[in-house]
Amino acid sequence: MEQRELAGLVDTAHGFQSRRIFHDEAIYRLELERVFARCWLFLTHESLIPNSGDFQTALMGEDRVLVVRQADASIRAFINSCQHRGNVLCHADSGNTRAFTCNYHGWSYGIDGSLAAVPLEAEVYRGALPKAELGLMQVAQVASYKGFVFGCFDPQAPSLADYLGEMAWYLDTYVDAVPGGTEFLGGPMKYRLPCNWKLPAENFAGDGYHVGWTHAAALMTMAKDPHVGGMQGNTTQNSVATDGLHVATNHGHGFSLLDDGYSGIALHDQPEVTAAWLTEQRPVVRERLGDWRSRFFGSHCNLNVFPNFSALPMGVNTFRVWHPRGPAEIEVWIWALAYRDMPGEVKEATRHCHMKTFGTAGLFEGDDAENMQYATDVCRGHVTRAGRMYSGMGLGRGGAHPELPGTVHQGAIAELAQRSFYEFWQQLLVAPDWSAVAGLSTHAAAGERA
Ligand code: FES
Ligand SMILES: [Fe+2]
Repeated sequence: MEQRELAGLVDTAHGFQSRRIFHDEAIYRLELERVFARCWLFLTHESLIPNSGDFQTALMGEDRVLVVRQADASIRAFINSCQHRGNVLCHADSGNTRAFTCNYHGWSYGIDGSLAAVPLEAEVYRGALPKAELGLMQVAQVASYKGFVFGCFDPQAPSLADYLGEMAWYLDTYVDAVPGGTEFLGGPMKYRLPCNWKLPAENFAGDGYHVGWTHAAALMTMAKDPHVGGMQGNTTQNSVATDGLHVATNHGHGFSLLDDGYSGIALHDQPEVTAAWLTEQRPVVRERLGDWRSRFFGSHCNLNVFPNFSALPMGVNTFRVWHPRGPAEIEVWIWALAYRDMPGEVKEATRHCHMKTFGTAGLFEGDDAENMQYATDVCRGHVTRAGRMYSGMGLGRGGAHPELPGTVHQGAIAELAQRSFYEFWQQLLVAPDWSAVAGLSTHAAAGERA
C-alpha cells in the first residue's frame, strides 16, 4: 500500500478511522509485520514458569512461541516449530520438560533451544548435519516487567521499560502495589471470537462510555457499589461521566479509572471481604507509590498496553491478550491476577468475581463479545467498508497534568486513549523501522497538547 493511502486511514485530529482497517487483508498483513513483529507483546507471567524447564506456549501475532525458564533462571522464547520439516514442536499448553521432542521424526531440542538429539544421526546424516545451525528460532528480545513477561521480535525495538514508557507508572499501581508481588491463578482460558483485534483493544484502552449501556443488565444484577451500580443506562443521575481520569500515554497505551478506591470490587458477591483487605493494604500502597496511586488501588480501572494486552486490574482482575487470527477473528487468552500474599478467602473472591464477569463464560464478556463481533462483521459490506467510524469524544480536552504522566482527561468517559491507540497504530504502519517510530511517538492525540 502507498504511504499516502496508509496515512489516510486514521484522522486523529478529528477522531475518525477508516472502516477498512477492520477487515482489509492487505492492512492485516502489514499489521503482522509492522505492529506484531515490531512491538513488545505479552507472553506470560513469571508465576506460571517458576522452575527450570517450566514452559508456556504463547502467540506473537500469528507466530507460535514457546516461553521457557532456563537453568540459570532467565527466560527465553523460541518459535514453536521444528527446524527439520516445520512441524509444531510442542503441542502442550504448558508443563515442565528437559527436552522438546518433535512428533514427526523425533528431533529433540534442549530447553535452551539447541538441537540436542536426532534419531539415526550417524547412519543417515553421516556426520554432515549442521546441528549448531539448527537450533530453534529465537525471539530477539525477552524481558520481564515485575513478573509480566514480554517478547519482541525486533532487535532494534526500545527496551521493554522504554516501550511501556509513561504507562509503567500507572501499571505499577497494580503490579507493584504490595511487597509480595502478583501471580496468575492458572490459565489461560481461551476462546475464539470473530472480530478484529483492534476493537476489544481500543475498548479496554479507554471505553468507559459503553459500560453503563452495554452492561446495564449485568450491572443491575451484580453491582453493589453505588458508583459503578449507578452507571446503568448512562443516565445523568450519576456522576460517572465526569468523575475519574482517562489517560493516553506514549506508544499508544491507554488507561482510565474511577479514583474512588473501592469501585473495582463492586461486582464481588461480598465486597466487604475484599474491601477489608484493600483498607489494610492502602497505607502500604501509599508508602510504596504515593497518594495518587493509593487511591487508584481498588478503583475500577481499564487499560491496554499497545497493541493487544488488556486488563481490568482491580477487583475483576482480568488480564488478557487479543491474538489476531486473520483480520476478522481473534483468539482471546484470559488470566486472573491475584496478589501472592492475599488471604485465601480474598483470592477465592477474586477468582470467583473474575469467572462470573470476564471468564470465557462471564456475563460481561458475552456482552462485549457480541458488540465486537457485529462491529467487525458489518464492515464487510462493500459500501459500508468505504465509510469511517468516529471517536472524537473529548477532543482537545486532554492535556498535561502537573503530577500524572501522559495526556490526561478529567473524567473517565472520553475517547482520547482510543485516538492515541489509532494514532500510534498508524505511525507504526507508515514507519519503515523503529528509528522512524521513535521520532514520532510523542503520543497521542495530536492537538491535545497544542
Ligand atoms: S519435522 Fe520435526 S523431526 Fe522432522
Ligand atoms: Fe465491556
